[in-house]
Amino acid sequence: MNQVTELPELRVRRCGLIELPRIVDQRDGVLCIAEGARNIPFEIRRVYYITHLENAESVRGKHAHRTLSQVIFCLSGSFVLELDDGEQRQELWMWRENLGVLLGPGLWHTMRDFSNGCTLLVLASDYYDEADYIRDYDQFLAWVKA
Ligand code: TYD
Repeated sequence: MNQVTELPELRVRRCGLIELPRIVDQRDGVLCIAEGARNIPFEIRRVYYITHLENAESVRGKHAHRTLSQVIFCLSGSFVLELDDGEQRQELWMWRENLGVLLGPGLWHTMRDFSNGCTLLVLASDYYDEADYIRDYDQFLAWVKA
């Protein structure tokens, strides 16, 4: 598994790494900055976050989107992000609060192995639309190969 420390080479298509500026204020914490259509490659229409991850067995994601782009961050703790473009699979260990992973359309993604109290932040290019989801893996494979 690649630890996201030295910007690993991504073997999976339709994804990317986004390193946010990170300002360390010594004893006053760390400030990271994301700007729509600047270092985030789309206008941000929706922000959601996932908290209270207290169960080591939790698994989230397990879907792809037809048109939505998102950037996912691990703000605290750590988790494993699995990416699958229908041909290649790759796991990234997410723990750096300023390193986002761009999840483009047509990318199956799964989040698991959450540390206790892990917090995820997602920036999305559009509003929630269940019709944009592909939740069946075989349907996903058929969709990316079509
Ligand atoms: P889902 O996107 O499947 O969560 P995850 O990928 O983190 O496992 O969404 C879980 C549920 O929440 C699903 O019923 C749809 C709903 N939901 C919304 O209503 N609005 C949203 O913006 C999101 C992300 C999910």
